[in-house]
Amino acid sequence: MVRRAVLPVAGLGTRFLPVTKSVPKELLPIVDKPAIQYIVEECVAAGIDDVLFVTSAGKSALEDHFDRSLALESALQEKGKLDDLAMVREVAGLADVHCIRQGEALGLGHAVRMGASHVGADESFAVILGDDLLAPGSGFLGRMIEAHHRTSRPVVALMEVPPDEVRRYGVAEVTATARPDEFEVTGVVEKPDPADAPSNLILVGRYVLPGSIFAVLDETPPGHGGEIQLTDALQTLADDEPLTGLLLDSPRYDTGDKLGYLKANLEVAATRDDLAPSLLPWLRSWLDEQEARAGSTGQDDPR
Ligand code: G1P
Repeated sequence: MVRRAVLPVAGLGTRFLPVTKSVPKELLPIVDKPAIQYIVEECVAAGIDDVLFVTSAGKSALEDHFDRSLALESALQEKGKLDDLAMVREVAGLADVHCIRQGEALGLGHAVRMGASHVGADESFAVILGDDLLAPGSGFLGRMIEAHHRTSRPVVALMEVPPDEVRRYGVAEVTATARPDEFEVTGVVEKPDPADAPSNLILVGRYVLPGSIFAVLDETPPGHGGEIQLTDALQTLADDEPLTGLLLDSPRYDTGDKLGYLKANLEVAATRDDLAPSLLPWLRSWLDEQEARAGSTGQDDPR
C-alpha cells in the first residue's frame, strides 16, 4: 500500500515573478483551481490519503487552502450558495494534509528527506513535484503504484524530450523490458550536458520510493548546483538493483514556467463543459485573426 505522498513546495517561484512575490506559485490557478489542488486530487485518485507539504516561509496560504474556512462556509450558507459550500468543504476534506518547513533550500533530495519522520523507513511513498502537472484524470500515478507493487522496485516517471532539452532534467539510462512502456533504469544523472546524457528520457516529477531512500539521502553529498539531489540518491539505489521506469502516457505541463502555465490552462479549459463550447470556437477565430493580421503586415505567423 502506498498511502502517503511527500510534496516539495518550498521553492520561491522566481520563474514566475512578480506574482510569486506574494502568492505561492502552487496557488496560481489553472482555470479556477490552484495548481497544487490538482496534485492533491491526483494523489487521492491513486489511493493516497495522507499528504505532506514540505514548505518554506511565506507559504502558509497553501495550508489554509486545504483547511476548513468557517467564515466563508457560513457566508455561503447564509446566501444559499450550497454548491459552492459543498465545493469548499470538499477541498478541506480531500486528504489528511500535514506540513513541515524545509528551512534552508538545500535541494530536492533534502526536501524529500524532510519527510523521513512522517513517512518512516519501512513504508513506500510517492513524491510529486508541484510544477509537473499531468492532464487531470490521467491515472498515471495509480499505474506507477501498481508497477511498484508488481516489480518491488522504486518507480520513476519517464518522458522523451528533444536531446537539447535534457540539460534541464534528470536523465535515465535504460534497458527495454517486455512491456513497451516500461524500462529498467540502470542509472540516472542530474542535468547532464546533452553530449554526456545516457538517453533523452527524462525524469518527470513523479516517484514511488521505498522508505529506505531516507537513509540513502542522509549519506548523499551535494551534487549538481551544490544541492542534495534526489537523482543522486536514486543512482545509489540503482547501483544495487535497477529502478522501474514508466513512460508517461499523458500530456505534462511545467506550470512553474509561463508558457507551460498558459498551456496547462488551455488543456484544462478545453476539457471543461462550462468553458470549452465557448472557448474553442473563440480560440479558432482568434488564431485566424492573428494569422490574417500577420499576413497583412508581413509578420511571421504567430503559430
Ligand atoms: C527536478 C529534478 C529533476 C527532474 C525535474 C522534473 O528538477 O531534480 O531530476 O527531471 O525536477 O521536473 P528541477 O525542475 O527542480 O530543477
